[in-house]
Amino acid sequence: MNDDTRLTVDYDPFSHEAMAEPADLYKAMRAEGCPHWIGKYNAWALTRFDDLRSASLKNAALDFTHGQTPGQLLLGEPVPTTFMTMNVPDNRKWRGLLDPFYTPAGVEAERPRLEALVRDEFAPLIGRDTVDIYHEFTSRVMCINSGYNLGLDHDEAVACRKLIDDILLYREPGQVGATSPVNQAAAQQLGGLLHGHIAKMRRDPMRAGPHGRVLMEAEVDGRRLDDGELLNYLFSLLVVGSETTPMAAAGTFYYLARHPDQKAAVLADPSLARAAFLETCRFDQPTNMLARRARADFELSGCPIKAGDNLLFIYASANRDESRFERADEYDIFRTGPQDISFGVGAHFCLGAYLATIMGELMVQQLIHHAADFELIEDGVERAYGEHLSGFMTMKLRMRWK
Ligand code: HEM
Repeated sequence: MNDDTRLTVDYDPFSHEAMAEPADLYKAMRAEGCPHWIGKYNAWALTRFDDLRSASLKNAALDFTHGQTPGQLLLGEPVPTTFMTMNVPDNRKWRGLLDPFYTPAGVEAERPRLEALVRDEFAPLIGRDTVDIYHEFTSRVMCINSGYNLGLDHDEAVACRKLIDDILLYREPGQVGATSPVNQAAAQQLGGLLHGHIAKMRRDPMRAGPHGRVLMEAEVDGRRLDDGELLNYLFSLLVVGSETTPMAAAGTFYYLARHPDQKAAVLADPSLARAAFLETCRFDQPTNMLARRARADFELSGCPIKAGDNLLFIYASANRDESRFERADEYDIFRTGPQDISFGVGAHFCLGAYLATIMGELMVQQLIHHAADFELIEDGVERAYGEHLSGFMTMKLRMRWK
């Protein structure tokens, strides 16, 4: 696509504007009525709900092997091979090993442990005047849970927490990709830590955790994962299981505080916690975008996508598409109507969708259970700055306890 005269929006996913506050750019690209061409990266930005959905369902035309983050696909950052970066049928074979843990039945079987985890991590905060609900609660809970699944104990998982934030969420102003010394050092440290853990898993399979053990012992197509491959799995699963959910859970408190009527409703009726968490995922989608490459020609809203073109699936934009959602830019936990695309669709649909929903609900309910009220500390709120994930990574609340 060389006809740059069609382009009305100047969009670069790594620009300061796009990494800091992309909502207006997304709106302008949606108004173009078709995918937006970015010549510099040989890429199409998919910003409209229908385009994202229909491309996601063209499984045979998508190639996941070149990476799933914009940095991997567009900048050539290293791609850890896991089922997340495989095409069907390989994706099915490896992902299928973990599927039983993530079905509703699989997650419900873990509910007592998950409830205890949420309760235990919240307990030290009760009675405090202020809390940073992201750092001190939601991000710890999800990382400890992911660590448990892979055999890391509580303290080991907590040690990984900051490293994950430093790999994924740390960006210096104008930084393109995860290239800063902070990102690199954290990635190396986490890799080293997990490398040591794999040695322990090999010596004693009981140290592998339920998911780690299945991966370590599985034989697919006559072969097992070697240490390098296992490291990719541990690294990727720890990261995807620890990020996004904490930002959306913290964001739920932000948006409720900004909408006092809805906050009052949730405080009075904790069963609304799930709706509030899911509306936060729609309104402020933490998986800002994921990346894939076309492996066949196809058409999307009149645009000729060619095999080899890069594709940016911008979920944060699709979830605000005004042609899909009434009052798309309003936060409304009582919203009914069409399904959002927070957890994707198609062969790579989010493995952790049900777990994220339950954990979001449990974490919001836990605070509601103990708090008579809460409000934002306006200068205690910080958003992630970057191309891949979006949401809150510092969220200080002033608490009034029951
Ligand atoms: C609010 C929280 C979360 C959101 C918004 C989210 C969103 C997404 C999205 C949009 C995708 C891509 C779907 C597609 O390609 O159609 C995805 C994939 C994935 N998610 Fe999540 N996710 C969340 C939490 C989690 C959690 C807690 C886990 C725990 C393991 C997880 C694991 C995965 C995995 C493994 C994939 C890749 C699946 C594959 O390639 O087959 N996610 N997620």
